[in-house]
Amino acid sequence: MLKGKNIIVGVTGGIAAYKAVDVVSRLKKQNANVEVIMTKHATEFVTPLTFQTLALNPVYVDMFVEPRNYDVEHISLAKKADLFLISPATANIIGKIANGIADDLLTTTIMATKSKVIFAPAMNTNMYLNPIVQKNFDYLKTLGYEFIDPGNGMLACQTYGPGRMAEPIDIVQYVISSFNDKELKGKKIVVTAGPTIEPIDPVRYITNHSSGKMGYKIAEEAQRRGAEVVLITGPTALLPPKDVEVIRVNTTMEMFNAVEAQFDSCQVLIKAAAPSDYRPEVFNHEKIKKKEGELDELNIRFVRNPDIAAHFGKLKKGQIVVGFAAETNNLIQYAEGKLKKKNFDFIVANDVSKDGAGFKSDTNIVTIIDRDGRLDDYPILDKSQVSKIILDKVVDLLNAKS
Ligand SMILES: Cc1cc2nc3c(=O)[nH]c(=O)nc-3n(C[C@H](O)[C@H](O)[C@H](O)COP(=O)(O)O)c2cc1C
Repeated sequence: MLKGKNIIVGVTGGIAAYKAVDVVSRLKKQNANVEVIMTKHATEFVTPLTFQTLALNPVYVDMFVEPRNYDVEHISLAKKADLFLISPATANIIGKIANGIADDLLTTTIMATKSKVIFAPAMNTNMYLNPIVQKNFDYLKTLGYEFIDPGNGMLACQTYGPGRMAEPIDIVQYVISSFNDKELKGKKIVVTAGPTIEPIDPVRYITNHSSGKMGYKIAEEAQRRGAEVVLITGPTALLPPKDVEVIRVNTTMEMFNAVEAQFDSCQVLIKAAAPSDYRPEVFNHEKIKKKEGELDELNIRFVRNPDIAAHFGKLKKGQIVVGFAAETNNLIQYAEGKLKKKNFDFIVANDVSKDGAGFKSDTNIVTIIDRDGRLDDYPILDKSQVSKIILDKVVDLLNAKS
């Protein structure tokens, strides 16, 4: 499947370097031409000879050795690459690339290449969750670098959590799909994400705990599969994925209007946002003050917002509309009710009261229910994996329509 493709694999100094041996072996089995660049620290974990034997190519470590082919190696490898895969990617290399540091052969070659660069990070959970490292991921994503998110699991350091490098079989699948025709090319997908905020007065509002993470991951995956993506988002602390049109809104009414403006021209609407069902009936133009002598309570009357999901579910003319049900009880019963009432093609249900599911978490535990009554339960998964499952289902439905 990868015949004629030049894949440069960068191996850095993490314990998961041993898994990179399997990655290289699997890429070779797909008939790729694989060349390996190791950092000096990576050679503490696995020898260059191991990669050389599997890749059937010399392994590069030093920048300042006499060029083997009278060629400047970092430039020739950078030019030759159809794809760069850094597996495992340490916190260190991600930090260096995010900051423009090119102080060894691997970082210099990555800096010099115009090919797609994919990182498969692997590190201790605390390192992975460190805001500096997270900021570097986010920044590199905005520049078009791709990441194969690590999984959750027991790490070599005997801690449990995110940071374990993705499995070699999944990494190679990701590489193969990078060369495939983009399955969502020519499709416009609108994704809503995040909470909405409903102002009470100039300094106060009501909102909910939605972080937007699920919707942003869906937008990123849809873009990766070639779709034209419009992300309509309430206020979040997230950086939007690259090459996605972002429409920022505050209130449910604004989100409704933004979806309305896009709906006729899209093929798929994925409603991952948590818009507020109600808004204060009156917006006080001045800050509400505590008044001496008045009762110790404040009553605010709320009125219904439009139900965006139901409105566009009913209005659809050939579009696929995907809904979410975030519940704290009677999950399946409520989700099945919403699926029918709001005319969704399928619904992603999650019990937000469970550990590892719901709003602020990087993971989710979902059940997908479709119109044929099929009910698929999934274990705890990263939101990026959940987004793949959702888009696989969207692709199946689009294919069934065509
Ligand atoms: C036993 C051991 C395991 C390590 N595992 C990791 C790891 O999984 N991820 C990581 O980011 N750093 C890990 N480190 C730290 C890196 O080796 C260190 O940050 C180094 O500077 C990385 O260099 P490089 O990115 O140039 O290969 C480990 C260090 C040791 C000694």
